[in-house]
Amino acid sequence: MNVFDWKKMKRSGEAIAMATCYDFWSAQILAGSDIDALLVGDSLAMVMHGYENTLHATIEMMATHTAAVKKGAPKKFIVADMPFLSFRKGIVPAMNAVEILMRAGADAIKLEGVSGHEEVISHIVRSGILVMGHLGLTPQFIHQLGGYKIQGRQANNREMIVQDANRLEELGVFGMVLECVDDITAHEITTKVSVPTIGIGAGVGVDGQVLVLHDLLGVNPDFNPKFLRKYSNLYDDVLSAVNLYSKEVKEKSFPRMEESYQ
Ligand code: KIV
Repeated sequence: MNVFDWKKMKRSGEAIAMATCYDFWSAQILAGSDIDALLVGDSLAMVMHGYENTLHATIEMMATHTAAVKKGAPKKFIVADMPFLSFRKGIVPAMNAVEILMRAGADAIKLEGVSGHEEVISHIVRSGILVMGHLGLTPQFIHQLGGYKIQGRQANNREMIVQDANRLEELGVFGMVLECVDDITAHEITTKVSVPTIGIGAGVGVDGQVLVLHDLLGVNPDFNPKFLRKYSNLYDDVLSAVNLYSKEVKEKSFPRMEESYQ
């Protein structure tokens, strides 16, 4: 997968399948999958590190996880998130963060929002870096958004997201994530921009979908937003496997002779 494949898929209507990936072992599994691209999302601050939101992701964390994913899935297209404020302190700090992520193994970087950092986006693009935008529910703006809510429902909010999408395209992004945007707005943007739109909670009228790997695998039984389809029930599978192991250790049926070195 390279930048031309993204364009080709948009043109041909072939849906782009993307999932988050944060570590070496899951990257090794996804390396053999049909998934088109991997996202080292800043959601790793919550999923992997237990923080309450993505504001805790740092560039060091993002680089460590990106490098692990690159080692596990060297041939997959990897997008890495620019963490909170890393692109809001001026061009030089932003470019330092981009450099760290690209050297760690990213093929592209993703950043949230557009207003106020147009110059930075443009500079990154003009430096030869593939930039993915992220609009709608942008978790790095969680305090201003007042919670994890659907975006685009009010006319002024919808207009703003559509304008931001157009602006991102003008600035040269190669694609954009639309998170928790109502389906009409997401579809309108998808028809207006020439770059692929990747939805999460944005309905079917987009060019592709992205989900957090742990969510689609059913790792957290308490996380059940409307947009999520669980393709596995890993929580129960892991729990019963570990309980069976514990039981067999306690009843001394593990290990057997064949599992021991004589
Ligand atoms: O950080 C992340 O996982 C993301 C996806 C939810 C799109 O940005």
